[in-house]
Amino acid sequence: MDAEELARRLEAIPRVPLVNEPTPLEFLPRLSAAIGRPIYLKRDDGIGPAMGGNKARKLEYLLADALRRGHHRVVTYGGLQSNHARITAAAARRLGLEPHLFYFAPRPSRLTGNLLLNDLLGAHMHFLPFGGSARPRSLAWTDFLVHLLAWVRVGRHYFIPVGGRSVLGGLGYVRAALELHRQAQAEGLENAWVVMAVGTGGTLAGLWAGFTLLRSPFRLLGMDIGALWKNFPATIARLAEQICARLGEPHRFSASEVPLIERTYVGSGYGVPSHHGNEALRRLARTEGILLDPIYTAKAFAGMLELSEKGQLGKEEPVIFLHTGGLPALFAFEE
Ligand SMILES: Cc1ncc(COP(=O)(O)O)c(C=O)c1O
Repeated sequence: MDAEELARRLEAIPRVPLVNEPTPLEFLPRLSAAIGRPIYLKRDDGIGPAMGGNKARKLEYLLADALRRGHHRVVTYGGLQSNHARITAAAARRLGLEPHLFYFAPRPSRLTGNLLLNDLLGAHMHFLPFGGSARPRSLAWTDFLVHLLAWVRVGRHYFIPVGGRSVLGGLGYVRAALELHRQAQAEGLENAWVVMAVGTGGTLAGLWAGFTLLRSPFRLLGMDIGALWKNFPATIARLAEQICARLGEPHRFSASEVPLIERTYVGSGYGVPSHHGNEALRRLARTEGILLDPIYTAKAFAGMLELSEKGQLGKEEPVIFLHTGGLPALFAFEE
């Protein structure tokens, strides 16, 4: 399908604008010179309300749906430093909705990083000190349980799955795929690698669906930073299929084709900064003056640097790293 047709199909689906788009595609001159290939950042950090990030694109569709269905309360959940929960709280406030955030951990004695911002936004934070197992979980089952629990604690509400990971949320990243496709055409970067952090897989599924529909020559690669979910590639393939179907263009995706590196760059676990991630964070900060977050983008950036240096991302093709935000989490950690 061509870009105009995809844009037309997306426009037919209700959306509330939360993102100033297009987000910049920035060349990193000093890092590129050091590595010997062109490296670009797609600046989806800081987009949307309250210091933003990638979730703002998903929430444009999800919260339009909440409003259309006449809801007043929005419920979502995540890890203690969930950026998704914080952006949902801010976007809900912007639209006059009441945000409720669920965490499966005891209430920390000090609220730092994203939790502090939630408090400033007056989000209702529900800390439930059970269920936070480190073993991989079923995405659908976890969503279902939290949804049920929220009925008991909050009453009628609009439920947003973890990470805003759903067909509607994924449409936000189909729009981003279209935006990046057009920017790359203007800059002659169509053969680039597009590398990104993967948490729940919604962003990856949306971009994958979008690039596939556009028959884009981009090479996409996601780095799992959490190893949180059972049968993760299969869930991403299914979501990409559902997104294409929602846009009226069915397409088959298989788990074995999912462009995802599982486990390698997770470090000791979700939410725990890794040594390589911290090194990558410092390297970008010190060459280009740009910050990454320690939980998502730093780990994925470390993976991108390593694969590039090992020659596993081709040789001279440009690399576009999708900066998905998450900076408030920096203030939840000490040195
Ligand atoms: C900063 C940041 N980057 C990347 C991701 C991963 O996005 P997704 O959950 O869509 O895989 C998230 C959220 O999970 C995030 O907060």
